[in-house]
Amino acid sequence: MYSIVLQILFLISINCTVIINSYPENECNLDNKLVDEIQSYKNVTKQIIDKIVSGGFGTKMYEDYSKFIDTFGARLAGSKALEKAIDHMVNLTRQNGLNDVTTEEVDIPYWQRIYESANMFEPYLKKISILGLGTSVSTPAEGIKAEAIVIKSFDELEKTDENKIKGKIVVFDPPFVSYGETVVYRSLGASKASRKGAVATLVRSITPFSIYSLHTGAQDYENNVTKIPTAAITHEDADLFRRLQNLGEKIVLKIHMSYAMSRKISRNTIIDLKGKESPEKQVIVSGHIDSWDVGQGAMDDGGGMMISWFVPVILNILKLKPRRTIRAILWTAEEPGLIGAEAYLTKHINETSNINFIMESDEGTFKPLGLDVAGSTNARCIIAEVLKLFTPIDKMKESEYPGSDMTLFVQKGIPGASLLNENERYFWFHHSEGDTMNVQNQEDVVACAAFWVAFSYVIADLSQDIPRQ
Ligand SMILES: *[C@@H]1O[C@H](CO)[C@@H](O)[C@H](O)[C@H]1NC(C)=O
Ligand SMILES: *[C@@H]1O[C@H](CO)[C@@H](O)[C@H](O)[C@H]1NC(C)=O
Ligand SMILES: *[C@@H]1O[C@H](CO)[C@@H](O)[C@H](O)[C@H]1NC(C)=O
Ligand SMILES: *[C@@H]1O[C@H](CO)[C@@H](O)[C@H](O)[C@H]1NC(C)=O
Ligand SMILES: [Zn+2]
Repeated sequence: MYSIVLQILFLISINCTVIINSYPENECNLDNKLVDEIQSYKNVTKQIIDKIVSGGFGTKMYEDYSKFIDTFGARLAGSKALEKAIDHMVNLTRQNGLNDVTTEEVDIPYWQRIYESANMFEPYLKKISILGLGTSVSTPAEGIKAEAIVIKSFDELEKTDENKIKGKIVVFDPPFVSYGETVVYRSLGASKASRKGAVATLVRSITPFSIYSLHTGAQDYENNVTKIPTAAITHEDADLFRRLQNLGEKIVLKIHMSYAMSRKISRNTIIDLKGKESPEKQVIVSGHIDSWDVGQGAMDDGGGMMISWFVPVILNILKLKPRRTIRAILWTAEEPGLIGAEAYLTKHINETSNINFIMESDEGTFKPLGLDVAGSTNARCIIAEVLKLFTPIDKMKESEYPGSDMTLFVQKGIPGASLLNENERYFWFHHSEGDTMNVQNQEDVVACAAFWVAFSYVIADLSQDIPRQ
């Protein structure tokens, strides 16, 4: 089972980063021969990009992507929609002439949303929109009616007398600082409040911007804690509760929440373009095919999944076979806690020394900027040199753990990169009804795809492996 520590680690990783615009050359000591070799890819990368951007392949990919999103909609882990979407991508791979596609079964949790509603009863009657957090338990059938207490931080919760929390609905209203910092109120709020006797928690949606929007996401109950229902509320309602509390008003809420929990079999999808010289060596490109049950999962992570799927498919069409195998993986069940990636790693653990580099796109496919890289100085020097082929898409950020599913591999010492893009508005839409095709822009998605394909081609074809140390 996936540990909570790991999850926090991956959630926090998104923001613990250092931006470097161009890697300090004086720390790099690349062999001239390697530099020349890398620069000799200029022609082929330009060809790849031209074919995708102007040659119609990008337009076709975007059409396939848009059709996929609109046909299958939200793809919650455990749902039939997700399994149909997986079948579709397997078929689409074959229809594009690449037959080396397999799926591997994974046992996953299926948390299903059935019914939710909430009202404020005091100081006056008002409907409150709520959106349960993944793995939340249900309320009793008659609902929970209780007084609310608004708490800004875990620190404040600790300092608050237990009698003030007991029997209450705790409303967490942390200001959005960054996703990594603020998301702990979503993932751990219920456990912390439960330990002090709360009967339910409502959490101000983890987003920097709101037009009465609700944002769901995973949460975990700590061991030995009484499981209490937990849901997101809008900034608008959380801030209203805060102001009412400051005015000395008593706030009484009634919530009804109903969910079902079971287990299902889902599948990771694996698509190989076998390497022409060292087929046992792999460059992995990946994104997750599952999504939350709200919106369409077009941004998270339909776009990232699609551009990664496209890599072996288009290189095969263009008859560009790199030295090493390019393996696209469409992870299942990322949202409930990297479950597909963890199962893959367990099953393929003795291949890890053959993974030369791992790539993941799970932070949007807006205008591409470059890469967020984890790896040794040597590895990063090579990546920086390769990025020069793609100016102006040559920004490099350095993170200990970029990405989400990828972090499990990076922890094993495998170097990797996630797509850096102009995703300032990512969390406006993340895990909400707003995550639809409307967020996507064809030109940007195609530019991401072209960069993603050409970059991974070079890494998979270089005469030298990406060094781990
Ligand atoms: C670049 O690619 C084009 C088109 O394939 C080819 O005609 C040209 O000779 C190549 N140039 C170099 C320097 O490899
Ligand atoms: C995938 O292809 C198979 C075999 O051709 C077909 O039976 C199935 O309906 C297709 N599934 C989807 C989701 O397109
Ligand atoms: C927590 O639960 C485990 C079993 O799940 C039990 O062995 C342990 O004693 C419990 N610890 C506390 C502090 O209750
Ligand atoms: C991995 O382990 C399996 C079974 O234990 C074995 O058949 C396979 O050859 C191993 N692969 C590598 C690359 O070591
Ligand atoms: Zn995602």
